[in-house]
Amino acid sequence: MELAPLLLLTQLLLLPGVAVVLGEPAVHPGYTHAEEACGGVAWAEAATVLVVPAPERREEFDGGQIVDISHYYREDMPGWESSEGTGEFLQLTWSMRNGSDIANFSELRLTAHSGTHVDAPGHVFEHYYDAGFDIDTLDLAALNGPALLVDVPRDKNITGPKFVSIVECVKTPYFLCRKLMWKKEFDTSYVGFMKDGAQWLVDNTDIKLVGVDYLSVGAFDECIPAHLVFLEKREVILVEALNLEHVSPGIYTLHCLPLRLRGAEGSPARCILIK
Ligand SMILES: *[C@@H]1O[C@H](CO)[C@@H](O)[C@H](O)[C@H]1NC(C)=O
Ligand SMILES: *[C@@H]1O[C@H](CO)[C@@H](O)[C@H](O)[C@H]1NC(C)=O
Ligand SMILES: *[C@@H]1O[C@H](CO)[C@@H](O)[C@H](O)[C@H]1NC(C)=O
Repeated sequence: MELAPLLLLTQLLLLPGVAVVLGEPAVHPGYTHAEEACGGVAWAEAATVLVVPAPERREEFDGGQIVDISHYYREDMPGWESSEGTGEFLQLTWSMRNGSDIANFSELRLTAHSGTHVDAPGHVFEHYYDAGFDIDTLDLAALNGPALLVDVPRDKNITGPKFVSIVECVKTPYFLCRKLMWKKEFDTSYVGFMKDGAQWLVDNTDIKLVGVDYLSVGAFDECIPAHLVFLEKREVILVEALNLEHVSPGIYTLHCLPLRLRGAEGSPARCILIK
């Protein structure tokens, strides 16, 4: 494992088509005061310009054993009740082109419920919000553990005992996949839990986490009532806007890690399934 960075570098340098520009310019034109950066250490070597091919983008790792079920953030990803999408969420506030000596440095501007994200009890309960039941208080043992992925009919919201999780968009019946997370405009017709479906799940199972593939676990008309049922006892964690296009129904190990945002009632999260 410890050799990995070294191997990566070796592969990079050996790849055909990689142009390695050494020497001139030894210092990137942007590094106007390189020797003054970072406490006087000269960073000239770091500025050697490597022209590398575009990186490979992947949904699966380790020969398909690990599947990424998070959406990558993008400007046209839908946002709650918005027709504008997520918008410009990443701004390069300092860059070499704009006068920074040493590095590029970006700023994030996102709602806490953007893209693949987790809800904490304070999302819908004022008393939990005030008492501090934020993202930082969620049980990592519930966010990381065995998970059952199920496919549910697209023609009906979840009202009863049949389902433990919603998947609107799985690999197998792919032709039915509506890919709503790929549509910039918010779509109220997504499939979600009705209040009684949420109630059944809470009353009859020990499920500690419910994940869905659109922006809310609750069907649009009962969005808040369904959230209230799930979060009332603080025993269920909600994960929303998962990307389930590359996985089939089955049993997996889920790992879902929201940011440790103390005070926040939601947080973007990276979620993976391991076969
Ligand atoms: C650099 O600054 C210019 C002018 O303020 C701005 O238009 C441009 O977007 C900036 N570029 C980057 C990469 O920050
Ligand atoms: C920063 O971004 C600019 C594009 O604005 C790029 O030309 C430059 O190489 C980047 N610098 C570093 C240190 O990555
Ligand atoms: C689920 O409920 C929403 C409203 O809450 C509705 O717009 C949508 O059509 C329903 N989905 C189905 C498949 O019936």
